[in-house]
Amino acid sequence: MKLSVIGAGYVGLPTSVGLASKGHPVLCIDIDERKVEKINTGKCPIYEEGLSELIEEVVSKDMLEATTDTQKAVANSDVTFISVGTPMKEDGSINLEYIKQAAEDAAKGIRDKDAYHLVVVKSTVVPKTTEDEIIPILEEVSGKTAGEDFGVCMNPEFLREGTALQDFLKPDRIVIGELDRKSGEKLEKIYKDFDAPIIRTSLRTAELIKYASNSLLATKISFINEIGRLCKELEIDVYEVADGVGTDHRINRDFLDSGAGFGGSCFPKDVRALIKVMEDYGEKPRILKEIINVNEEQKTKLVEQLQKHYKDLSGKKIAVLGLSFKPGTDDIRQSPAIDIISELKKKDAEVKAYDPEAIENMKKEHPDIKYTDSYTEALENTDAGLIVTGWGEFSEITLDEIRLMKNQIILEGRKTQLRIDKSYREGLSWP
Ligand SMILES: NC(=O)c1ccc[n+]([C@@H]2O[C@H](COP(=O)([O-])OP(=O)(O)OC[C@H]3O[C@@H](n4cnc5c(N)ncnc54)[C@H](O)[C@@H]3O)[C@@H](O)[C@H]2O)c1
Repeated sequence: MKLSVIGAGYVGLPTSVGLASKGHPVLCIDIDERKVEKINTGKCPIYEEGLSELIEEVVSKDMLEATTDTQKAVANSDVTFISVGTPMKEDGSINLEYIKQAAEDAAKGIRDKDAYHLVVVKSTVVPKTTEDEIIPILEEVSGKTAGEDFGVCMNPEFLREGTALQDFLKPDRIVIGELDRKSGEKLEKIYKDFDAPIIRTSLRTAELIKYASNSLLATKISFINEIGRLCKELEIDVYEVADGVGTDHRINRDFLDSGAGFGGSCFPKDVRALIKVMEDYGEKPRILKEIINVNEEQKTKLVEQLQKHYKDLSGKKIAVLGLSFKPGTDDIRQSPAIDIISELKKKDAEVKAYDPEAIENMKKEHPDIKYTDSYTEALENTDAGLIVTGWGEFSEITLDEIRLMKNQIILEGRKTQLRIDKSYREGLSWP
């Protein structure tokens, strides 16, 4: 089956490359010409482990091609996945601008072809969006009828940035929300080589499964961060508590690592969008609201902790290590590092920042701080170092490197495997 994928971002690209590696010829579409050019030369426009190598391979085998022409790509394929961004509006509700445009562009391609076509919504959209917003656009612009001339599925994506390709290729489950059996059957064929249970549901159920999953994962993080605050008072290591709790198979250890709060392009916006939807239906999203409140407070806890050492941060040189919202990605969207740097700047501290992959992205957010090429350079002559993102390389910091600091204080937002003497280091939520 020939596939087209609209949107070559953190989801669309692993989807395109992953499906191409499974033997489906893929046309990958993006409005960003630089991304398209890069992909066509076999290069990866984002940092994701394993993605560069596989892009090079599938492009060289002519299994993947990128284009800016949605209409033509859709007309020349059998199935179209839509994986454009669905960001958050000021009021927390979902911004459907990009997905509506993508649906309109896809519909023009459907109009141009005679054969049956399948449209698969892969972007995260709130329940009923596919039924109430996407299908009407597809029908109106194509002049065709959903369920007769073309099929529609909603196939939420659960991959994590940092392990996106692996997660896409080896998912825990594949959720297929379907307009009708024919649509679901066609999509299931694409996933036939995937070793994962397939859950077939209605369109709106698939949409809600995605929001409920992300909100529950975010709950685990805010929950352990709240427990971490008590741990700090009691001089207990919250990671030991998490190990003890997470060994229970009903709970599971994942997403119980206390830290500087969750960020990224999904959890903050998805929890907020679900809050908005519940309120629109007259329900009270009490738990969901507290997930966000705890997270907002958590983001600047490191600065509070730093102020136990320096009440006045004015003129203090602070190294911020780790800028991406999690290790393994260059994505800084909603990263706690953004708020931490803002807070430090507000208090007139001098910030030196380092990240192995995310510096260029952070420069757009904070152009006025100093960036360094290594963590050693960042730590040199500083009053304190804050480890915000748990990149593996930070566990290699040595005592000699710590001695380059003016005052030897390392505060860890995320517990790393630092092998240096405990007296130099302090954590957000362990003694
Ligand atoms: N990032 C994640 O970890 C993740 C995980 C699961 C689900 N999701 C969901 O997947 C969706 C995509 O997220 P993302 O992180 O990949 O976004 P992204 O911003 O990284 O990528 C979106 C891409 O779509 C392109 N685009 C926008 N409008 C277009 C159009 N009309 N035609 C062609 N291209 C267009 C943009 O240029 C961009 O390259 C969102 O709904 C998100 O919530 C994201």
